[in-house]
Amino acid sequence: MKKLVLILTALVVSSSLIAQTVEEKVESLLQKMTLEEKIGQMTQFTSSGDVTGPTLRGNVEKEVKAGNVGSLFNAFKADYTRKLQKMAVEETRLGIPLLFGYDVIHGHRTIFPIPLGEASSFDLDAMEEAARIAAIEASAEGIHWTFAPMVDVSRDPRWGRVMEGAGEDTYYNNLVAKARVRGFQGDDLSKENTILACAKHFLAYGAPIAGRDYNTVDMSLQTLHEVYLPPFKATVDAGVETFMTSFNEINGTPSTANPYLFKDILRDQWGFEGMVVTDYTAINELVPHGTAKDLAQAGVQALKAGIDMDMEGAVFLETLKESVEKGDVTEEEINVAVRRILTLKHKLGLFEDPYRYSDTEREERLVLCDEHKEKARDFARKSIVLLKNENQVLPLKLENKPKIAAIGPLVKSKKDVLGAWKAKGSPKDAKSLFEGLKGATRGKAELLYAQGCKLDGDDTSGFAEAIEVANQSDVIILAIGEARTISGEAKSRSDITIPGVQTELLAELKKTGKPVVVVLMNGRPLALEKEDELADALLETWHLGTMAGPAIADVIFGKYNPAGKLPMTFPRNVGQVPIYYNAKNTGRPFDPENPSGYKSNYLDVPNSPLYAFGYGLSYTTFEYGEITLSSNTTDGAPITASIEVTNTGDYDGEEVVQMYIQDIIGKSTRPLKELKGFEKIFLKKGETKTVTFTIEKEALTYFRWDMSEGVEAGEFNVFIGTSSDQVKAASFTLTKDYEVGKKNYNPIQSK
Ligand code: BGC
Repeated sequence: MKKLVLILTALVVSSSLIAQTVEEKVESLLQKMTLEEKIGQMTQFTSSGDVTGPTLRGNVEKEVKAGNVGSLFNAFKADYTRKLQKMAVEETRLGIPLLFGYDVIHGHRTIFPIPLGEASSFDLDAMEEAARIAAIEASAEGIHWTFAPMVDVSRDPRWGRVMEGAGEDTYYNNLVAKARVRGFQGDDLSKENTILACAKHFLAYGAPIAGRDYNTVDMSLQTLHEVYLPPFKATVDAGVETFMTSFNEINGTPSTANPYLFKDILRDQWGFEGMVVTDYTAINELVPHGTAKDLAQAGVQALKAGIDMDMEGAVFLETLKESVEKGDVTEEEINVAVRRILTLKHKLGLFEDPYRYSDTEREERLVLCDEHKEKARDFARKSIVLLKNENQVLPLKLENKPKIAAIGPLVKSKKDVLGAWKAKGSPKDAKSLFEGLKGATRGKAELLYAQGCKLDGDDTSGFAEAIEVANQSDVIILAIGEARTISGEAKSRSDITIPGVQTELLAELKKTGKPVVVVLMNGRPLALEKEDELADALLETWHLGTMAGPAIADVIFGKYNPAGKLPMTFPRNVGQVPIYYNAKNTGRPFDPENPSGYKSNYLDVPNSPLYAFGYGLSYTTFEYGEITLSSNTTDGAPITASIEVTNTGDYDGEEVVQMYIQDIIGKSTRPLKELKGFEKIFLKKGETKTVTFTIEKEALTYFRWDMSEGVEAGEFNVFIGTSSDQVKAASFTLTKDYEVGKKNYNPIQSK
């Protein structure tokens, strides 16, 4: 026995001597590579599979064979990725496998709600699972890497990409960011169904001036650190493997050329060891930005800022060699980037088996399978927000075989429900609202249809038919909103009302006297004052994905009781934008109870939004008790805040109980409220539950004028309620200051 143990030990020791570590493998490959081959690894091109920006390189296959490519994106399907991989492995000198990337944002072929919609669920497990399913489908088609999650906080619904994020709140964004990274990357990257996640867009891409995509960002360091950076830090904590630069400049420096972001913060302070890719041609754009006179200088700036891979722009490919020769950059700087890229390829197991992701058997079995579609339907229901329900018009009852008029340009749409960034989602796989209604009412109701009008334009010729259909019916379901093509990248709007004559159609239908249930489909918060006035019930369904129709029908007929809450404020009109719940008080706060001149308000619109952050109704009602604190004072030790919530209505239902905190007096001014906790609970009719939140001193810190981080002793308010503007209040005193300290927060001293 002893002998056996000795032999085994010897075997283990000798094999560990032979087995190379990943670092050693990467190093030995690096030694064999020419400078050109290294720069090739730092280059990423789009294939012709999908177009997500201007295509610069016609023949990518030629580039692959020439060893000019380390990664391709927009290529998918097991067969196609296998074919491309074979070129890299068999037809280049060193046979280094390619990394395949794609924007798998809210599903791959089974499409889930747009991320802002998913965020309305306040269900982190569901978000993780949706990302997991997206990774399972994408990886079977050969994809190793998604350019998601987008963790850009945004307070401006004019910006078309709000659909891609988790809304306006930093605390909530942190949690969603982590859930999504965990979903994509799973617990082990070497499994063939996990893919690399990418935190994007670093940094502050969601805060362009006037909401115009790609526009300048100019903001205080405090806001950058308090509001915009934390979700990125959360992705690092969750183990994200890649980061993407943003197109915008911040305070005069384009992100793609900013070492403060990528070296000081990301690597030195947060310890990120993964790889940084640019956004699409972002290095080239340093020239029009005006920090580089030509592409060569742009390439040097990007490399020195800490960028590893050039997406589509070919700047590294075309200029870096000469920059090394001229001494503008060193080969060692290039090695640093290449090491990171090769390490990722190792982590994914691509050197052992470059084809392990491109698997036709898994592709056929898993992509769009029934289980995934069922999950998509369930998540779609969870993402719906009930904004209004006058006289309990919803849920619709089917007992008396009602006649239902399904009207509107979106009722039969199968493409708009997929939303922007729909990856390989196809309208032919999607279920429209009409199909959902048909399925739910078969034999139980009569369903009539009229389109009424188009999504845009001023043609009212379809109104007459719609009114006729409405007159024949007991209730009207009107589906209106935005086409999928007017939210997403480069889709900013200066007018965020519903386009065309859709609202006019609503006004006409209202005149019939029949109850009108408005089903909104849109990619951003809209200004809905008129719709709110006219509709009897208002359902915010965003763009819900492949299973939109059945999910909305589940809610309309009460198979599912809606519980979504808004992750972004809905303004009354666009002039209020940017409007967000965690605003400051100002020195002249407006008091609607005591209006007088020279206060911080508008003359023509109230300060309050139409629907506040965290708002959303249910078919049932919830009553909140009073807040109980475990203690009214603390020296920094955690205290708890508890509240009883009772379901006082006629349906079982879920409620998102939200906790906000206000630091009343600080060295610097603090927001009126900040979300610091929430819990989604299920309550049967008549049931009461106690929800308890823990408040830790770390949750109270903030950045002062001198960028020191901490919190001062003093009084704090705790608010708990059903939305940011309907809360119960209590207060406690912190008896001691708490300092986190001061790091290198001065970008001017950056390396
Ligand atoms: C977008 C990125 C996206 C990339 C690749 C860019 O235009 O800003 O978010 O990942 O294209 O499609």
